[in-house]
Amino acid sequence: MPDDYTPATIADVRRLRDTLEQQGKKLVFTNGCFDLLHAGHVRYLEQARALGDAMVVALNSDQSVRQLKGPDRPLNTECDRAEVMSALRAVDAVVVFDDERATSLIEAIRPHVYAKGGDYTVESLNREERTALEAAGTQISILPLVPGRSTTNTINKMHATDCATASNGLLRLAVLGSGAGSNLRAIIAAIADNKLKAEIAITLSDQAESGFREIARTAGLPALFVDGGDNPRRLSEAAQKEIFEHLERARIDVVVLVGFMRILKEPVISAYAGRIVNVHPSLLPKFKGANAPQLAIDDGELETGCTVHLVTAEIDAGRILAQAKVPVNIGDTAESLHARIKVEEHKLLPQVLNEWRERGLPVRGAGRP
Ligand code: GRF
Repeated sequence: MPDDYTPATIADVRRLRDTLEQQGKKLVFTNGCFDLLHAGHVRYLEQARALGDAMVVALNSDQSVRQLKGPDRPLNTECDRAEVMSALRAVDAVVVFDDERATSLIEAIRPHVYAKGGDYTVESLNREERTALEAAGTQISILPLVPGRSTTNTINKMHATDCATASNGLLRLAVLGSGAGSNLRAIIAAIADNKLKAEIAITLSDQAESGFREIARTAGLPALFVDGGDNPRRLSEAAQKEIFEHLERARIDVVVLVGFMRILKEPVISAYAGRIVNVHPSLLPKFKGANAPQLAIDDGELETGCTVHLVTAEIDAGRILAQAKVPVNIGDTAESLHARIKVEEHKLLPQVLNEWRERGLPVRGAGRP
């Protein structure tokens, strides 16, 4: 018996698909991490298999599970996950893939049916995957998830005792950004200098390529990417849910927004109420929204600054936690002024987070500020 199970190749699966097609039969395709199999998975896979005559399951590789779910996952290696998966009655072949999305596999395999679990709709599927499915003429089937059973639930139950009793006293942060990432760099530096007793559990961006993501990767942090959809200021419903799931999985205490350009809504806003902070380049309530440094110049302000505040459903309107002032100099451009504001942000944000931790707030699942 070999030590490690060998999954099927794409060529094997493509052959299976072509053979089925010649016989007028259908290949079903589904994909996921399937890290800790539970009855919910088994029932879902049985239902998916019933949509055709054979089924291939594409498993996210270990590296892509880390990208999608954070550094503590997967619990089981890709070889072990593939071996367990292949033993199920509903599963005819298992392949392992390395990307965050299954797009290239869909293009190569051209399955007859694509099954997806959960409260997605065809419209809220990932855009790239959906385009590939439509191009392959694949029928898309959304199957309901079995309520109450999920890998995250199981892991959270296992962690519950640890969290209540053995917290290491560090705030678990999720940092979300879309831009240059200088505030992320400042948080990383404050942690390294022991000025901020926190750990960055995940970073998340809506921009696949950004200074922010580069800084996260260089620091060896999980650099998650969520495709927010077409509107650059909004997050699609699927993206809102995806972000929520990332935060839950990583057992986040505080969500820190540093130039995250899309508006967070439900379910994150309610679930993390009082635990989401944003840094904004003006002395709020003045100059809410975009272009705050330019607006301060246009209004002839002699002084502006930055604000760290709680995030609520209303933009830049939550409780102010701290502010720092910055003079507006003669001849300032939006860029020169913003650069000086950022210098203050880099001090203020880590300081506020650390003071927050010292006051004993917030604690995962317990009292909220
Ligand atoms: C900061 O100026 C922050 O106030 C605003 O977005 C900017 C992000 O800058 N919300 P960076 O990406 O951290 O350099």
